Amino acid sequence: MEKQCIYYVAVLFVHHFMSSLAVPAKNLTTDQSALLQFKAHITSYPRRVLTYNWSISNLVYRWVGISCDARHGRVTTLNLSSMDLGGTIPPHLGNLSFLVNLDLGDNNFHGHLPNELGQLC
Ligand SMILES: *[C@@H]1O[C@H](CO)[C@@H](O)[C@H](O)[C@H]1NC(C)=O
Ligand SMILES: *[C@@H]1O[C@H](CO)[C@@H](O)[C@H](O)[C@H]1NC(C)=O
Ligand SMILES: *[C@@H]1O[C@H](CO)[C@@H](O)[C@H](O)[C@H]1NC(C)=O
Ligand SMILES: *[C@@H]1O[C@H](CO)[C@@H](O)[C@H](O)[C@H]1NC(C)=O
Repeated sequence: MEKQCIYYVAVLFVHHFMSSLAVPAKNLTTDQSALLQFKAHITSYPRRVLTYNWSISNLVYRWVGISCDARHGRVTTLNLSSMDLGGTIPPHLGNLSFLVNLDLGDNNFHGHLPNELGQLC
């Protein structure tokens, strides 16, 4: 009985270890491509701020509406409120795994928030 239990714990441990290896590590590059996907889904830019500002030639943490945390170097805030933007919100935003502050209010985004955003914590 005891041996079986130890075996079971070991299997769980190995399984957990393997699955953590299988998930590709996310970093600021992942965040950047998630945001560029989002930009590509924005169909109306009455104020063309993002067109030039959200560019790979700028560092992501200097992009308008974005803040990053110093500790992980990942995007924590996405605030594009009241920028007259329209379009849909792609599932890629779910890759912003350090996002804690999301404000897309007072725009014309339509459709549903992707389920992936529900994975954020
Ligand atoms: C992020 O990870 C990818 C591979 O997973 C790597 O090619 C890239 O250089 C990394 N970017 C940063 C900013 O660390
Ligand atoms: C992008 O916008 C931010 C915030 O308004 C600003 O600090 C930065 O200089 C802008 N960068 C470019 C290249 O326009
Ligand atoms: C987003 O930015 C606007 C304008 O700067 C501000 O009023 C609002 O409180 C911000 N939203 C969040 C969630 O921080
Ligand atoms: C980001 O999210 C999309 C859609 O959810 C997914 O297809 C893609 O593989 C993700 N990219 C990374 C680098 O995790």
